[in-house]
Amino acid sequence: MIGRRLRLVETGPIKTSRLVLRPLGEGDAERIAALAGDWDIARMTARIPYPYSVALAHQWIDDLAEGEVVHGIVHRGELVGVTGYLPDDEGTAEVGYWIGKPWWGQGFATEAADALIRQCFASGKIGRVTCSHFVDNPASQRVITKLGFQLVGPARAYCDARRREVATLRYERLRPKRFAWLRRAA
Ligand SMILES: CC(C)(COP(=O)(O)OP(=O)(O)OC[C@H]1O[C@@H](n2cnc3c(N)ncnc32)[C@H](O)[C@@H]1OP(=O)(O)O)[C@@H](O)C(=O)NCCC(=O)NCCS
Repeated sequence: MIGRRLRLVETGPIKTSRLVLRPLGEGDAERIAALAGDWDIARMTARIPYPYSVALAHQWIDDLAEGEVVHGIVHRGELVGVTGYLPDDEGTAEVGYWIGKPWWGQGFATEAADALIRQCFASGKIGRVTCSHFVDNPASQRVITKLGFQLVGPARAYCDARRREVATLRYERLRPKRFAWLRRAA
């Protein structure tokens, strides 16, 4: 637990023009449960159960996988969403995000995820970022398109909130060539 908290803190904040992406702490659980517990958010994600309690949000923060990078998205001092990625051993990282409903439609998901992905590539360990959206989620499809992802193809993924598999589209974005020296140096 202590080690995990240190690991989360050491990733450091990322600043964009309107947002700060900072590591999550236990103090965020209540707000995460309130915002992500909305059916319209939970049902579009793979791993947020419904209903979503503060205890489950605490458990999620505690159980983040080793190496998983997760940031709270902060706007004007308030946590408005979460974005993160989970790297595998082969240089690919799966990215995810959600934004609280009151802040939808202001470009926050795109701004936050783009900053996170740039940091992910700049870390030098990741050459390919993947993401996916359920086929009934056109807002996320638009975010993914704006982020410059290319379609990989259809898949199916389990949705905790819906308690069933849902048709999904998968995408990838490759590390830009300007980061190629990182691979040679690694
Ligand atoms: C998807 C989500 C993250 C988008 O957050 P956001 O901050 O509103 O996203 P942005 O403002 O950066 O971009 C949203 C885009 O989708 C578009 N959009 C929104 N609803 C849409 C719809 N029903 N159909 C088509 N496009 C839609 C917006 O117009 C905008 O595109 P634009 O900039 O070209 O106008 C947010 O709705 C959310 O958290 N949803 C629930 C959880 C989720 O889906 N997470 C992603 C899982 S893959």
